[in-house]
Amino acid sequence: MAEPTIASIVTTLLSPGKGLLAADESFPSIAKRFQPLGIPSTEETRCAYREMLFTAPEVNEFISGVILFDETIRQRMQGGIPVPELLHQLGIVPGIKVDTGTVPLANFPGEKITQGLDGLRERLSEYRQLGARFTKWRAVIAIGEDTPTRTALETNARVLALFAALSQEAGLVPIVEPEVLMDGSHTIERCEEVEGATLQSVFDALCDQRVVLEHMILKTGMVLSGKECPQQADVAEVAERTLRCFRRFVPAAVPGIVFLSGGQSDIAATERLNAICQTSGAPWKITFSYGRALQAPALERWKGSADNVAAAQASLHHRAKCNGLAVLGKYSPEMERVKPA
Ligand code: 13P
Repeated sequence: MAEPTIASIVTTLLSPGKGLLAADESFPSIAKRFQPLGIPSTEETRCAYREMLFTAPEVNEFISGVILFDETIRQRMQGGIPVPELLHQLGIVPGIKVDTGTVPLANFPGEKITQGLDGLRERLSEYRQLGARFTKWRAVIAIGEDTPTRTALETNARVLALFAALSQEAGLVPIVEPEVLMDGSHTIERCEEVEGATLQSVFDALCDQRVVLEHMILKTGMVLSGKECPQQADVAEVAERTLRCFRRFVPAAVPGIVFLSGGQSDIAATERLNAICQTSGAPWKITFSYGRALQAPALERWKGSADNVAAAQASLHHRAKCNGLAVLGKYSPEMERVKPA
């Protein structure tokens, strides 16, 4: 079979009514998700958990791609099939998180920079051989009284741009992810301002680095009130501000924007996505690339036991379907009344 081109990978990832499952939690993040449920984080439990997710019946109707972690892309599911091969057989594009996490940005207290550029060219070539067709890199921007600083925005943007250029060089579609955190008591106005400044720096750097905008996907958060802000903006305001910010700062050449869930509840993440997608006329495709908002109900039901696999898979299917419909602007809260079997 002919190798898909980078343009066809983008098209497949952005198939109508589908989105991405982010299952690329690092060792500390997956341990944090397992811990409240008393599930130990071992190579076996992590593999069993991801197998439960990836083999959920008919989830490929709503999921076009899965973001994997380094350990997972090398694992085999029951029957010995390598994870990327299983996903390819299901018509799901395997992708890989290639950053190695954040560290404090020197001289800028409270701000972070993402690591992982050293040896990246060689790692990308290995991931491609293992079956990955797209990559992801996450930069983190926190909103504080005096942050983000211009230096933190520009440094993170330059690193994202280098990652994107190297990915395209390797024939992989980069998912460029600047995440403005929800943490804090800031207003939605402040979030819109910071999201705009972040996107402006990111696209300046991507253009400087000669990244082909048509061959990348932007992953970012919605414009939201800070988690501790006493005035929480409603769904309509979130949709309006998010789209306005994207129209101002995301070039129309970018084929798609995918959302992270970032700590929103699963239902809020679906409702807001639906409201955003109901507004027609956007130049980019818009969909989801949720981690927690897709996985949380499934993980709670799974609890680390093989006996709960079918119930957990039904929960994942339900959330994937709700979000798949939201992308078409066809989700309704009634759908939450039908509880998954
Ligand atoms: P959440 O949807 O849980 O924020 O995760 C998405 C992701 O990929 C973060 O990098």
